[in-house]
Amino acid sequence: MPTTVTLIPGDGIGPDITEATIRVLDAVGADLVWDRQMAGASAAARYNDPIPEATLDSIKKHRIALKGPLETPVGEGYRSVNVALRKTFDLYANVRPAHVILHGGRFEKVDIVIIRENLEGLYYGAEHYIRIGDDPKAAAESIALITRYGSERAIRYAFEYAVKHGRKKVTLVHKANILKYTQGLFLDVGREIAKEYAGRVQFEDRIIDAMAMQLVLKPENFDVIVTTNLFGDILSDLVSGLVGGLGLAPGANIGPTAAIFEAVHGTAPDIAGKGIANPGALILAACLMLDHLGDIARAERIRAALHSVIDEKQVLTRDLGGTASTSQFADAIIARL
Ligand code: NAI
Repeated sequence: MPTTVTLIPGDGIGPDITEATIRVLDAVGADLVWDRQMAGASAAARYNDPIPEATLDSIKKHRIALKGPLETPVGEGYRSVNVALRKTFDLYANVRPAHVILHGGRFEKVDIVIIRENLEGLYYGAEHYIRIGDDPKAAAESIALITRYGSERAIRYAFEYAVKHGRKKVTLVHKANILKYTQGLFLDVGREIAKEYAGRVQFEDRIIDAMAMQLVLKPENFDVIVTTNLFGDILSDLVSGLVGGLGLAPGANIGPTAAIFEAVHGTAPDIAGKGIANPGALILAACLMLDHLGDIARAERIRAALHSVIDEKQVLTRDLGGTASTSQFADAIIARL
């Protein structure tokens, strides 16, 4: 029986990289059927709703989605559809693996997986303006909600991930020296859970600012990183920059009843419509989806083909230093399958 997957091509470069990804999945013979749905700016323009009911119903039914990037207006307009999808489907763990694919850069030995708590912290969505006198926006307040429950399941996911994938160490990143209650709770929970894995997985903690520096100086010292929502968002872009850029950074949003796979990057408005975006991140996200579905052999074949295209350096998109188009890059992968 083929698996039906909700497919959301998304905005900006989304449709181009989605098309390339589907061609690669077809070429490898993945047993998938697509239920195409809309979300983001394209859905807002067509249905006046950035997350139409039909899209939510489709994910509810199939419990698995592959999603292109979605545009979120800055400062005003509708709230982030990505955040809403994570909340709706309780996608508490955001998994973002990054290892060196494009050799010859500054680092050769980076192999890091960031597990980001995906629902709480400053992205919880409790924000409001405070009126003072005549000024309705005299101040603004965001609440960083951290719960023991939310921290526990994200941190436990990180330790279980380490055990399952034979990884040695979990580094918990926080700012508990200043934010003693919220970040302190996350750290306390981490220390408790770490005891259960003593002897199997090493544990250490780092303060976010020092961690940012250490990641740039000695990224090979890190293995699995677990952190709160905002820090995880920032560190995963930083880490993708260490290994060849956003064009090769995939992500998985995992919950108890659904999983959504996507690229870490956004809609890349500066190159949208030009056919030059790197589809690698979404292709690698599709590989994470195949892993999740148990089709590890096909995922590995795609990864090997992508790695060999990049190693040969003949057909590379512009972000990787080449001149190839999105579809030429996909064709090169398909030729090696
Ligand atoms: P971005 O990730 O779209 O772009 C940052 C830079 O990376 C740009 O120079 C872009 O050209 C480049 N880039 C990104 N992906 C690329 C690819 N596949 N190939 C080649 N170059 C690539 O971030 P930005 O500009 O901050 O955000 C644009 C929009 O995307 C915003 O509306 C934002 O809210 C949304 N966004 C959506 C995400 C999602 O749906 N998961 C994640 C991040 C941003």
